[in-house]
Amino acid sequence: MIQLTSVGARIGPIQILTDITLRAPRGRFVTVIGANGAGKTTLLRVISNLLPASAGKVVFDGKDTKGIAPYRLSRSGLVHVPQGRQIVPALSVEDNLALGAANVPGMSRRALNDGIEREYERFPILRERASTAGGNLSGGEQQMLAISRAVLMRPKVLILDEPSLGLAPQVVALILRALREMADSGVAVILVEQLAMMALAIADDAYVLRQGKIVLSGAASELRGDAAVVESYLT
Ligand SMILES: Nc1ncnc2c1ncn2[C@@H]1O[C@H](COP(=O)(O)OP(=O)(O)OP(=O)(O)O)[C@@H](O)[C@H]1O
Ligand SMILES: [Mg+2]
Repeated sequence: MIQLTSVGARIGPIQILTDITLRAPRGRFVTVIGANGAGKTTLLRVISNLLPASAGKVVFDGKDTKGIAPYRLSRSGLVHVPQGRQIVPALSVEDNLALGAANVPGMSRRALNDGIEREYERFPILRERASTAGGNLSGGEQQMLAISRAVLMRPKVLILDEPSLGLAPQVVALILRALREMADSGVAVILVEQLAMMALAIADDAYVLRQGKIVLSGAASELRGDAAVVESYLT
């Protein structure tokens, strides 16, 4: 569903990513792990074209994304949940959800309501908070809202930047399970994480990013078995 081939990225004169080759087919849960500053956020920004690649190519759903605006990519199903979640603090939970769906061409009111209902079943706390302003939610609730809103955008590819940041372990587990379900339903999930062992426990495929390069990749279960090697790349 998404394929990066020899992708490079620069910010001004600085080379941040070099020679990144990565694929995330339909129904696959892919994790990219790496230390602070390894280039994880930059990689997701390149995938969604917020930062155009300086080399190589990104193919989404069979098409080269070069020159396609991020909002167009998101409308065609490449959905990015950024670090820091970016929900609308003044809007209620329900309105934040409706806003996600507003981007989907031709979604009926009925489909929207069904979609919201499914998200309330996925994360029951969101139903309880339906009329609470997004800004008054806990960090974990905000992350659930950000994920549910992304799901309502009908992603083919869902990319997430460190959804675990600042959350309690039980909440992280709940969120990772929801992402696993998304993958099992046919979405290509790309999860960037610093919590390497948790991500490896749930993903299918894994890539280790260090100083802007892929230094290790393979089946997540295999990398998990090589914990010492993986850890050595995470510092
Ligand atoms: N706007 C910028 N200008 C200059 N350098 C930047 C900029 N944004 C990021 N960088 C550099 O690019 C590298 C990769 O940053 P990036 O934010 O992608 O890493 P990360 O893996 O997401 O880190 P973290 O775990 O802290 O979120 C870092 O060395 C960072 O200092
Ligand atoms: Mg980051």
